Amino acid sequence: MSATAQSLAALRSAGALLNARGLSALTSGSLRAFSSSSAAGSAQPTESAAPPKIVVFGGRGFVGSNVCQQAQNAGYSVLGLSRAGTPPLATGRWVDGVAWARGNALEPQSYLHHLEGADAVISCVGGFGSSEEQLRVNGAANVALIETARAVGVPRFVFVSAHIPNVPGIEALIGGYIRGKAAAEEALRTHYPGSGVALRPGVIYGDRAISTNVTLHLGLLFKPLELLLQKMGPEAAAKMAAVPLVGAAFVPPLPVETVARAAVRAAVDPRVAAGVIDVWDLEKAALHMEQAERAERAARK
Ligand SMILES: NC(=O)c1ccc[n+]([C@@H]2O[C@H](COP(=O)([O-])OP(=O)(O)OC[C@H]3O[C@@H](n4cnc5c(N)ncnc54)[C@H](OP(=O)(O)O)[C@@H]3O)[C@@H](O)[C@H]2O)c1
Repeated sequence: MSATAQSLAALRSAGALLNARGLSALTSGSLRAFSSSSAAGSAQPTESAAPPKIVVFGGRGFVGSNVCQQAQNAGYSVLGLSRAGTPPLATGRWVDGVAWARGNALEPQSYLHHLEGADAVISCVGGFGSSEEQLRVNGAANVALIETARAVGVPRFVFVSAHIPNVPGIEALIGGYIRGKAAAEEALRTHYPGSGVALRPGVIYGDRAISTNVTLHLGLLFKPLELLLQKMGPEAAAKMAAVPLVGAAFVPPLPVETVARAAVRAAVDPRVAAGVIDVWDLEKAALHMEQAERAERAARK
């Protein structure tokens, strides 16, 4: 079998891993902006129709700026909102292709007008701090966004939630974070029962700009662990992850690009079913994306 045929066979078998909830749609067309494989009814851009409008809350943040970048590269109309309203520290031509505006999730009046005509909202709002702050930023802020988007008729909503590892006593450490995420997921279920998607990644790695001249390359730390867990296989790793305390070490870290692409795909493609996409399915999507990229590179040779 040629290298290309082997790569394509690997790609097909990885695709078969993705479950019937439409998860393969998370990765389809991710390599090209205008995929010819789009399903009927999909909100993917076509050359004649106006591209879908996606509003990204937390667009200046680590995950949010990657979501904006992926969505802009895919040809969507992207509006990145944050409390400051300024572009992120990240640089690149894509930054100029995104519209940046001010919006505080807790103050619907500050962003109501920005939701007009939006096809989807992606919320990357979250964070740590005191217990009350964790509850406010992960819970109340996202609940307000979900309720407001529903009230003005935005059809789809994607929320970047989090996988909570099986560590005894974690509730005492980050109880506000956990309860906040749960409250936001509950609001999503209530207000977007048919078109709300919550992603639950574990640790997310990538290049994280912390000032204009300092970027943390988190991949150096987490990529080796991800590769090790991929070798072990998602099913075996998932079993180990259920073991209290040590299990946390078996939750795969994910590249920020994977989470961002999955969020964008869930926002525009109705084949991605409503509900929770957990870290294990995201990991399978990451494998699928890597294999697709390898197959495409091999096919180009
Ligand atoms: N990084 C990880 O390893 C990881 C893992 C699992 C899950 N997650 C989840 O992924 C999401 C994004 O994480 P991240 O690492 O990208 O965090 P981040 O860089 O700190 O970004 C969080 C964003 O939330 C925004 N925000 C906070 N309060 C807001 C409000 N009231 N209104 C509007 N925006 C508000 C901030 O915007 P401004 O301050 O610019 O206004 C910031 O851009 C979070 O929900 C996090 O829990 C992250």
